[in-house]
Amino acid sequence: MDIEIRKLTPDLAEDYARFFDTTPHNNEGNGEKCYCVIWRGDASYVGNDHWYPSSEERRERAIQFIRDGDLQGYLAYHGEGIVGWCNATADCQLGVKHLRSYWSIEEYPEDIKVKSIFCFMIAPEMQRKGVATALVERVCADAADEGFNYVEAYINKEFVAADHDFRGPLTMYEKCGFAVCAEREGRVTVRKALK
Ligand SMILES: CC(C)(COP(=O)(O)OP(=O)(O)OC[C@H]1O[C@@H](n2cnc3c(N)ncnc32)[C@H](O)[C@@H]1OP(=O)(O)O)[C@@H](O)C(=O)NCCC(=O)NCCS
Repeated sequence: MDIEIRKLTPDLAEDYARFFDTTPHNNEGNGEKCYCVIWRGDASYVGNDHWYPSSEERRERAIQFIRDGDLQGYLAYHGEGIVGWCNATADCQLGVKHLRSYWSIEEYPEDIKVKSIFCFMIAPEMQRKGVATALVERVCADAADEGFNYVEAYINKEFVAADHDFRGPLTMYEKCGFAVCAEREGRVTVRKALK
């Protein structure tokens, strides 16, 4: 499979939005699209308001967040087209705080750098071809180069397709060298040590 992983940069903002426009995904009840604007840099939060009422507004915000560097992650390309997205960031402490109320996530000392993987969206026709795996491997490689201690993800222990599968399956993380570091009521935090 010929897949190229590119870090999301401001010049790719329109491509990113178009990928969400045209790709069927799970969070589309009533035709709504998420544009993955929940998990982004804290600087762009307005109070605790991290969700926007309409698809149009989310699209517009996503483009702006990408241009401002507040929405971070990686895109998978097959030829010139995007086929996958992985939201990975170290900036979204509000997101981690939100997850801490459901998952069991360790509080780290300030000198420990953690990159969080929050979300995936792989085009349906490209699923089960290793795209998400390639995205995780790139997140880990860049995080290691950037001096991070851990890459972490917050997932369900049992993987059910079309139900929170945006978090990614445990089996995939295990294949990528992650291990379960905490568990609470069917929710597991997985972590890969980079140092
Ligand atoms: C879940 C998801 C991220 C997996 O991505 P993917 O590129 O298909 O995953 P990979 O091909 O890298 O799979 C790696 C491993 O994960 C596991 N896996 C992946 N998809 C699975 C599935 N549907 N059921 C069970 N295990 C699965 C397998 O162990 C797989 O290895 P294998 O194919 O050798 O058995 C993808 O299906 C997806 O994006 N779903 C839609 C999520 C969504 O709608 N997000 C946006 C809205 S919130």
